[in-house]
Amino acid sequence: MSRTGVWLIGARGSVATTAIIGASAVRAGAAPPTGCTAELPDFAGAAVPGLGDLVFGGHDIVDTPLVKRAEQLVHAGVVPAALPRLVAADLEAAEAEIRPADRDAGTAGHQVHAIARIVEDLQAFRARNDLREIVVLNVSSTEPPCEPHPAHESLAALDAALAGPDPVLPASSLYAYAAFRADCGFVDFTPSTGARLPALDELARETGRPYAGRDGKTGETLLRSVLAPMFAQRGLNVLAWSGTNLLGGGDGATLADPGAASSKNASKQRVLESNLGREVDGEVHIDYVPALGDWKTAWDHVLFEGFLGARMTLQLTWQGCDSALAAPLVLDLARFTAKACHDGVAGGVSELGFFFKDSVGDGAHDLATQYAALRDWATR
Ligand SMILES: NC(=O)c1ccc[n+]([C@@H]2O[C@H](COP(=O)([O-])OP(=O)(O)OC[C@H]3O[C@@H](n4cnc5c(N)ncnc54)[C@H](O)[C@@H]3O)[C@@H](O)[C@H]2O)c1
Repeated sequence: MSRTGVWLIGARGSVATTAIIGASAVRAGAAPPTGCTAELPDFAGAAVPGLGDLVFGGHDIVDTPLVKRAEQLVHAGVVPAALPRLVAADLEAAEAEIRPADRDAGTAGHQVHAIARIVEDLQAFRARNDLREIVVLNVSSTEPPCEPHPAHESLAALDAALAGPDPVLPASSLYAYAAFRADCGFVDFTPSTGARLPALDELARETGRPYAGRDGKTGETLLRSVLAPMFAQRGLNVLAWSGTNLLGGGDGATLADPGAASSKNASKQRVLESNLGREVDGEVHIDYVPALGDWKTAWDHVLFEGFLGARMTLQLTWQGCDSALAAPLVLDLARFTAKACHDGVAGGVSELGFFFKDSVGDGAHDLATQYAALRDWATR
């Protein structure tokens, strides 16, 4: 495969910067590809681009230089101190490919122009770097859930509405629309709306482009997708599953807003319901603790009933480094979605459900089945 473009929405964020540094470090032999599923022996036969074949660019609403973001990640203990200097040339190359995001994209009468600009930026990126495939990958701040609108139901209605004065799509969906029009694949690593509207699914199929999402499964929900099937398969009766998350960093700040947090909490609860086959009591809370920086702590408390009604609990604590958990998934998703683009897959790719809290399609929700589906699909 020739070089593959990875266009990151939120290119100056923690996850994006860690992914760019990580890909360069592995390519330079300065770090092992720990956490990268595509590098496992099971995937040796998968026709995916190498980490060294990825070319990064993207959009962001802020202009903090990537080098500065890399320094902040070193300071936070996410990235080893020596790495940013070692990969300086790659950081500079990515910096040159980042364009300012349109802050007015969601405002009245502006959506059509916003889409045209994104399409132009993607086409120029393809031409400058002679790219065969481009994967647009959303790692920007989480949006609140979007209000339903009749224009979301079909492509014809959406196209008519986009030409009108009212904003009908949130920013994440404008990027998905533009990605399909520019012949790119689209991945939503966030819980935002992205391509998850009937009109955008129709556009993906019509343009023959794949999409995947949503909301990367990196911590508490990853554990839930392993443990919930265990309770179900042992016939244990889960009575309540409650979780509290303490988050720092930019993501924590965004999720301090109840609107944005409700998108995230809904996708976490869906994993439980689909694995246990019913709703269970309990809520998920997200608290913003700025001093935690890029680290997150999740506590889960599971109350369950065994034989003859005996009550028991499982309590667990997960302490993770957010960007170190997410970055290898972002790289895997870019590579697997490039394969889907190359193979001509059109519409939602349910086989990538292994990576998400709330995947497209009707695939399984337990991690073991999702892994087998991904392996079979990738190596077919
Ligand atoms: N880290 C994880 O484990 C994990 C897991 C699942 C999902 N996510 C999601 O990944 C996303 C990124 O996380 P992060 O920690 O890097 O956050 P971050 O706050 O560090 O980065 C987000 C970036 O998006 C930019 N941005 C905001 N609005 C934009 C727009 N309209 N267009 C372009 N750029 C925009 C911001 O300026 C910022 O640079 C979040 O939505 C988070 O929920 C992260």
